[in-house]
Amino acid sequence: MMVDTKLKRTKVSDIDSDLIGKHLFVQGWIRTCRSQKGVTFIELNDGSSIKNIQLISNKEIPLLTGTSISVYGLLVKSPSPKQPFEIQVDQLEVIGEADSTFPLQKKGHTLDFLREIAHLRPRTNTFGAVARVRSRMAFAVHEFFQNRNFFYVQTPVITSSDCEGAGELFELVSETKNFFGKRAFLTCSGQLNGECYATALGEIYTFGPTFRAENSHTSRHLAEFWMIEPEMAFYELKQNMELAESFVKHLVKSALDNCQDDLNFFEERYEKGLKARLEIVLKKPFERISYTDAVEILLKSGIKFEYPVEWGKDLQSEHERYIAETVVGGPVILYNYPKTLKPFYMKANADGRTVACMDVLVPKIGEIIGGSQREDDLLKLEEGIRSHGLNPSDYDWYLDLRRYGTVPHSGFGLGFERVVQFITGMENIRDIIAFPRAAGLCSF
Ligand code: 4AD
Ligand code: MG
Repeated sequence: MMVDTKLKRTKVSDIDSDLIGKHLFVQGWIRTCRSQKGVTFIELNDGSSIKNIQLISNKEIPLLTGTSISVYGLLVKSPSPKQPFEIQVDQLEVIGEADSTFPLQKKGHTLDFLREIAHLRPRTNTFGAVARVRSRMAFAVHEFFQNRNFFYVQTPVITSSDCEGAGELFELVSETKNFFGKRAFLTCSGQLNGECYATALGEIYTFGPTFRAENSHTSRHLAEFWMIEPEMAFYELKQNMELAESFVKHLVKSALDNCQDDLNFFEERYEKGLKARLEIVLKKPFERISYTDAVEILLKSGIKFEYPVEWGKDLQSEHERYIAETVVGGPVILYNYPKTLKPFYMKANADGRTVACMDVLVPKIGEIIGGSQREDDLLKLEEGIRSHGLNPSDYDWYLDLRRYGTVPHSGFGLGFERVVQFITGMENIRDIIAFPRAAGLCSF
């Protein structure tokens, strides 16, 4: 039967008991369909929320999961306690059929299997919920900075400089030989370009894809991930930390306020205590511990870590998580790491051996933010570049920011997938981005 598509469509998320007694036009995909003895029950989902709407027809309409339909019918109070209301179908039209080969006919697939059908996994409860929370968090990122009058700067994806100096860049090749006249890469950070705009506009942020050819097969690393990088003129490390703390709290609060249904789902399906864990983030100030004190705490813990702890060695995820989960029980900011562990651009501290940097660590994940005050002294910055085995002439444009009207300035990078992972409680970062790219993984 044809449904008049000129009717105004109602999204399932907008249906509430105020609409009982009204005729509604809905469209979506069948999640389940039971058809017997002259009646059919359909659970319809249209992606607008985790909730389905139940449809009841007094005809036998045997349709399969995955089929797309248009429906016109009366919203009534449901006799079953399972749902507050349901639609009595007047007209139902099949738009696109799905047959028994549709891979989601059965429920209860593992996340590993769903990763192999990344093109269809958004039709599951889990991936619909992740996508909606992720979308809301992207909005909250802009909301946070725009409310503070930061300017959004779009920095390039193609670059010729390695900001982090970690040698983890993807190099570009083109059909035209030597296209750029020099070696070019996918960027691992927009920071250096961001600094150019911060030292003109004052306070800016970037939000875009970044790339790292790290060969790490962990649940927290991707080869392509999104990063938010605010950069602020006239900020020192302390103000940088304060901004980072407010930012993380804003994202968590926005999720609690705006993604209730999806968070309830994650709480029920994936992590008991998820919402309480998020509430704690809002309540407590983030503790601040220097790297040197953190090393001391780890050494005194009596725990035998896989990677030994020693001043001057980088902290591993097991150390970060021990501090966030066991010592602090919430987010913590570690600052002033040894300069040998950090990139060339970080501001040297007066002690001669540490830099004015910070990492924000959270339970379950470890590092979600890395940032620093930047070296604003021309000679010290040149020295830093050299001591990292790099050539100051390759950074001439960046050094100009210190030659002309230099100012103290600071910034940080928040890994977008890591924070969404933290907020949803999902175990694997590959389930946070629509089409994950990692070592050995570039399908779809
Ligand atoms: O600590 P990182 O390397 O810092 C920077 O790139 C600086 N340029 C940021 C700045 O000061 N403007 O990376 C920042 C954050 C990390 O804390 C982590 O959350 C995330 O980016 N990140 C990754 N996320 C997913 N997969 C990876 N391979 C990641 N590498 C870093
Ligand atoms: Mg880092």
